[in-house]
Amino acid sequence: MVSLGAKCSKCQSAFSSDVALTICPECGGALLLEYDLAQVTEQISKTILERRDDTFWKYIELLPLASDGVISLQEPYTPVSPLSDRFDKAFKNAYIKDDGRLPTGTFKARGMAVAVSCLRELGVRRVAVPSAGNAAAALAAYGAKAGLEVYAFMPKDVPDSNLKESIFSGAKVYLVDGLIDDASRIVQTLQQKYKWFNISTNRQPYRLEGYKAMAFEIAEQFKWDPPDNILFPTGGGEGIIGLWKGFNELLNLGWTNKIPRLVAVQSSGCAPLVEAIVKHKSAVDEAWRHAETIAAGLRIPFPYASYLILRAIRETEGTAVAVDDTEIAASMKDFFKLGIYACPEAASTLAALRDLRGDRILGRDETALLCMTGTALKHFHLLAVERSEVPILSRQADSL
Ligand SMILES: Cc1ncc(COP(=O)(O)O)c(C=O)c1O
Ligand SMILES: [Zn+2]
Repeated sequence: MVSLGAKCSKCQSAFSSDVALTICPECGGALLLEYDLAQVTEQISKTILERRDDTFWKYIELLPLASDGVISLQEPYTPVSPLSDRFDKAFKNAYIKDDGRLPTGTFKARGMAVAVSCLRELGVRRVAVPSAGNAAAALAAYGAKAGLEVYAFMPKDVPDSNLKESIFSGAKVYLVDGLIDDASRIVQTLQQKYKWFNISTNRQPYRLEGYKAMAFEIAEQFKWDPPDNILFPTGGGEGIIGLWKGFNELLNLGWTNKIPRLVAVQSSGCAPLVEAIVKHKSAVDEAWRHAETIAAGLRIPFPYASYLILRAIRETEGTAVAVDDTEIAASMKDFFKLGIYACPEAASTLAALRDLRGDRILGRDETALLCMTGTALKHFHLLAVERSEVPILSRQADSL
């Protein structure tokens, strides 16, 4: 394993990575793992990586564990494909990366695969997560494979699919009469009493390392010349911070020479990051009121490490945009017409692409990658069809 340490992203205090880390004890900032990149370049190169099997575990030297500690549910390299501009001119030079193909059907598998593997190596046996749904489902699945005890706390209106996935995978599930912030408070209050490791978004440095590998995958899939822009549906922000961390590591390794502009896409029913960007704030300073959206993963009123999300956006000269639920539902349907199954969170990126191209914030010649963070299969309940309008044929039908 490459030498590893951790640093606070707020006060820069340094920590040893030999124990399971949470947040900075000095200032509460999110910790980031740091690798000795000189050692990485002694051990691997782009050519060596290209010869390895296509799964994010191929970047093991840049992950916080040894290869024999990997807990895998067989994660594929998720495909990147161009969007057809026959459908809409705004789709020219646009691509999608389909993380709906990962175990449990969302990109949350990346973070949980790495975090569960690493925490198990560090001796953790009992984990608790507050979740909008998909993170709990992914933790439950990887936890089951690793033999961990998993406790999941979700808002009581969590999508049915996420509730069932978590329960069937063996997690102990609690529904909270509130939002994810309330669930998070409950985990924090009870974690010592019940001896849970709190695996909340950005309150530990491990999940980020799984999302970071998205940047590596994207870079390799774009032949080490990453796209100009990446549109990422953003709630708690581990996805977008992970991309930022991954692209920075690639730049420091000298394997790429640019970092894409990172565009956070939110729902107008819960858009604290968009507001912070518009008002030039360095962090979200109060919870979004009356948060409401069909994209459950974007209903994060008060992201813990908002300062880091905003840093990732500003450093890359990106932005944050909001789209409303009507646009999200329409985009899910548009994606179906392209043969793509997008969950509501992911569908938001298509509406955002159209808006950004329309406002010329994103030029027609610039490349844009939309991160399809999850599959529509868990969300058919959001799209109604009138059964009575679908013809029923008798078994003997010989014409329509
Ligand atoms: C499918 C999907 N996409 C995007 C997000 C937002 O990700 P993040 O919380 O890392 O910003 C979530 C969060 O739950 C999600 O489930
Ligand atoms: Zn600190």
